[in-house]
Amino acid sequence: MMHQIKLSDNIYFLGFNDRRTHLFENLWPIPNGISYNSYLISDDKVALIDTVERHFIEDYFQRVEAIIGNRNIDYLIINHMEPDHSGAMKSIVKKYPDITLIGNKKTFPIIENFGIPSSRIHVVEDNEVLDLGKTKLQFQTIPMVHWPETMITYDETHQILFSGDAFGSFGTLDGGVFDDELNLEFYENDSMRYFTNIVGKYCAHTQRAIKKLSNLEIRMIAATHGPVWRTNLSWILDRYNKWSTYSSEKGVVIVYGSMYGNTEKMAEVIARQLSEKGIRNIRIYDSSKTHPSYIINDIFRFKGLIVGSCAYNNEMFPNMESLLSKIEHMGIKDHYLGIFGNFLWSGGGVSNLKKFAENVKWELVYEPVEEKGALKQDEFQKCIELANAMSVKLME
Ligand code: FEO
Repeated sequence: MMHQIKLSDNIYFLGFNDRRTHLFENLWPIPNGISYNSYLISDDKVALIDTVERHFIEDYFQRVEAIIGNRNIDYLIINHMEPDHSGAMKSIVKKYPDITLIGNKKTFPIIENFGIPSSRIHVVEDNEVLDLGKTKLQFQTIPMVHWPETMITYDETHQILFSGDAFGSFGTLDGGVFDDELNLEFYENDSMRYFTNIVGKYCAHTQRAIKKLSNLEIRMIAATHGPVWRTNLSWILDRYNKWSTYSSEKGVVIVYGSMYGNTEKMAEVIARQLSEKGIRNIRIYDSSKTHPSYIINDIFRFKGLIVGSCAYNNEMFPNMESLLSKIEHMGIKDHYLGIFGNFLWSGGGVSNLKKFAENVKWELVYEPVEEKGALKQDEFQKCIELANAMSVKLME
């Protein structure tokens, strides 16, 4: 037996907590887990909105049957096809062969490529309305938040936005489901890391989605991950708006790759000088220790980034290479950049950091600083000047 959790008289929350998976998308750490949220509307017609990760299928069916008994499910509304939500689709279509799949024109090619049978489909357009009886649902595409086919479903009757990944969060739902049942401090970092890691590449698309949805009267936001928002909607809306406009704070992330500590010492000098210039948000990360998920999150948070690398086999330090390729891939914009590094043979660290600078096109606040071995007076002074230049930019 499980509690039945309702968003309204006939809309049920069907969420599952994943505390076993270490890496979401096999890439991003989720030490606080994640929830996969699906919703069921029991009206004259029965509709499911999104499904869950496939490992939960047995329990999912049990909870569906506890609500609708032997009734058929008429519609499966697919806001998003990433398998953390579509993983149970094949089993659902098998169990309910008369079900009609509802998606947009970009949804069904993906369904076909996943090999999910779909004999009954209905392709919806923006603003189209699906009438379930007393519940009227409307659809709006929000491409790239988080995949090309992504759309939202808006319940006009109860003013509930089923938002897919948009406004979602890492972190399980430990008892509480609605925002007013939870201590939201738990989601402060996890919601941002979810956004920056998963959706952060698509900030411009997120902004377009926020504008597109701003015409809707929204009383509740039911995302596919994290809390259901019914009391303090601005908590999550304001944050998504801030993150997707790169409204970063005055602060600097210094991240380095260092084998024996010489590059690390340069990072310490730069950080101390930033502090002497009044910068209060300074985070130093060793790229070999901290997962890029957390570093990228702080890069979104703070306007300044200073990257350092020793030379490693005449190249950049591999863990820095891995981090910086992720930053390039994400297309993070609007930052100030500083570069430093160290070598003994013929270089490779700083020369490759310069290529990174060219690729991201951020403003380089000072010339690259490169030392040979232990930090000596000339390059020490340049580290000071690099920090000074960064602080001037941040104080502008
Ligand atoms: Fe939660 Fe993009 O899937």
